[in-house]
Amino acid sequence: KNIAIVMGGYSSEVEISLKSGNVVFDELDHSFYQIYKVLILKDKWVWLDKDENEHPVDRADFSLINGKERITIDCVFNAIHGHPGENGVLLAYFELLKMPHTSSPFYQMAVTFNKRDTLSFLKPYGIRMANSVYLNKGDIYWQDQILRTLGLPCFVKPNKSGSSFGVTKVKHEDDLEAAIQFAFKEDDEILIESFLDGIEVSVGVIEWKGEIKVLPITEIVSQNEFFDFEAKYLGKSDEITPARLSLLQQKNIERVSHKIYKTLNLKGLSRADFIIVEDTPYFIELNMVPGLTRESILPKQAKEANISLTELFGNCIEMALK
Ligand code: DAL
Ligand code: MG
Repeated sequence: KNIAIVMGGYSSEVEISLKSGNVVFDELDHSFYQIYKVLILKDKWVWLDKDENEHPVDRADFSLINGKERITIDCVFNAIHGHPGENGVLLAYFELLKMPHTSSPFYQMAVTFNKRDTLSFLKPYGIRMANSVYLNKGDIYWQDQILRTLGLPCFVKPNKSGSSFGVTKVKHEDDLEAAIQFAFKEDDEILIESFLDGIEVSVGVIEWKGEIKVLPITEIVSQNEFFDFEAKYLGKSDEITPARLSLLQQKNIERVSHKIYKTLNLKGLSRADFIIVEDTPYFIELNMVPGLTRESILPKQAKEANISLTELFGNCIEMALK
């Protein structure tokens, strides 16, 4: 089978995606699949040969152009964080082409990439979450009203983004306005959420051999104010897998993360983030193209579950092709 790993993307997360995509390329079984790297970048779509020379991709049918020949792809491995890989846009195109891909269907991807819509979707199912205020660019708002609703500290986040780009933890009311403007640089919609004082955890939930599987939970102990970009990728955090939780806390996270995956009818890889306050998990967000770099959480959780990355990524392809 010919597999294309799509990587790059048009967002701030392009570099992270290139790392993730290269890990997938290195770990997939090359004796079993013919694997191609495809860069989906703002200014070009190209595939790379063995010497990393660039060749064109035909967007009409997603075939790879190799001189006078064409390589037909059987399945796409999606390693694009952010737009257009994680928000459904590229997947809608693949679905029109009837091209199997390793992610959830485009609609699930569009909903889950939108933090606000994921929270609104899940709330009636009894999933607990922080209090929040939503703003669109141009809205009139009163800072004192936001502060009265949410208290301090609070988090200001772009609605559709990842890897903590545009996120600020606001501790003083004087800093709220700058944080709002900073988040609006990343997206036209933002969320402001109350601070939850508890244990931060992240848990991979995957489709494994046709069943929903919850991976071992990771506890995040950030040396920075929160689990920001530096903490995520530059070693400024301790990530402890399996998390040091009571049995009840662990069961609650497993139950809630499984329920979220099932309720949203998800497929493929996912990673859900929570804060545990006392014994209750408060849902933060879903990552449907979770980081797959050597520093990322989900690969460590798979290893802890005795699943090698070769098996993990191979299973994604098998699930997509079935
Ligand atoms: N958005 C980053 C890649 C993550 O969730 O791991
Ligand atoms: Mg995220």
